[in-house]
Amino acid sequence: MSNSPEGTSPEPAEQAPSPLDETAVAAAVDAALAAIAGAADLDELKEVRIAVTGEKSPLSLANRQIGKLPKDQKAAAGKLIGPARGRINQALAGRTVELEAERDARILVEEAVDVTAAPRRRRMGGRHPLSTLQERVSEIFVGMGWEIAEGPEVESEWFNFDALNFKPDHPAREMQDTFFVEPPEAHLVMRTHTSPVQVRSMLERELPIYVLCPGKVFRTDELDATHTPVFHQFEGLAIDKGLTMADLVGTLEHFTRVLFGDEAKVRLRPNYFPFTEPSAELDIWHPGAKGGPRWIEWGGCGMVNPNVLRAAGIDPEVYSGFAFGMGIERALMFRNEVADMRDMIEGDVRFSEHFGMEI
Ligand code: PHE
Repeated sequence: MSNSPEGTSPEPAEQAPSPLDETAVAAAVDAALAAIAGAADLDELKEVRIAVTGEKSPLSLANRQIGKLPKDQKAAAGKLIGPARGRINQALAGRTVELEAERDARILVEEAVDVTAAPRRRRMGGRHPLSTLQERVSEIFVGMGWEIAEGPEVESEWFNFDALNFKPDHPAREMQDTFFVEPPEAHLVMRTHTSPVQVRSMLERELPIYVLCPGKVFRTDELDATHTPVFHQFEGLAIDKGLTMADLVGTLEHFTRVLFGDEAKVRLRPNYFPFTEPSAELDIWHPGAKGGPRWIEWGGCGMVNPNVLRAAGIDPEVYSGFAFGMGIERALMFRNEVADMRDMIEGDVRFSEHFGMEI
């Protein structure tokens, strides 16, 4: 154990130059300056600072020895050690400034943000025109105060056929038109039209009724340019006191003018549906048709058959009603000049995109 005068910790006095030895002090300064210059970054410089100015650094130890020197030597020792320590502190300060500048420059490069870089953007896609058109049709009827009605796509045979006055041997029930759902005893079908919602609405709602039901329907057709086994219809039903064929025509005229333009006209041709009497085929005069304005067959309509009103518990002596049903795909074909129905179901976003969000 060495005998240190100020003495708490043992000091390796042999590492410290004598405060009177000019050569040794100069060597300690040179070593310190070299270490300072060699520090590559601020962390390294921090270690160097402790080594060259800390309590156990050679010059601190030398400085401490001055106290033990005879009085007449103290001044000379002070003149040697003081400036030596000063040079080291100056070098430290200079190197700190240099390394801080380097660090700041490096951070600027490393953390730079290229504000001109193209952002990674998710493609917007496009709403399918069938949805947009369906919504547009619904909005027109909602604008007239009608409500939107819904029914299931897997429907009971009773709603799809019986309640709509289809006789048990009606050809539409046969396998070539209708998807029957297993097991046969369940008497379920994929609805072949939106008309079963007529009956559901009459059973569920208070009178009078003004409803529109857009939805998917299913028929066993092969997919080609003009047929698809899954397509969309919208069904209209109005039940009130005193409704006549004139109300049906007036409603359809207003609707087609809003959808196709002021010159649009409606024409009814006699037809047969089990659930309407009289029944009609609905043609519209489409002012914007490709190849000039023309009549286009669009759907069916008529006055609700009294048998249907009775099946739904409504007295045909008091109430009457009209109904209509049209295809959305067909409207898209003549209104927006889609030539091939398969384009509508393939789901290619390039088809949807050019329709935009409004139709
Ligand atoms: N449901 C009929 C069809 O799909 C259309 C229709 C609806 C006819 C309402 C008259 C009344 O062909």
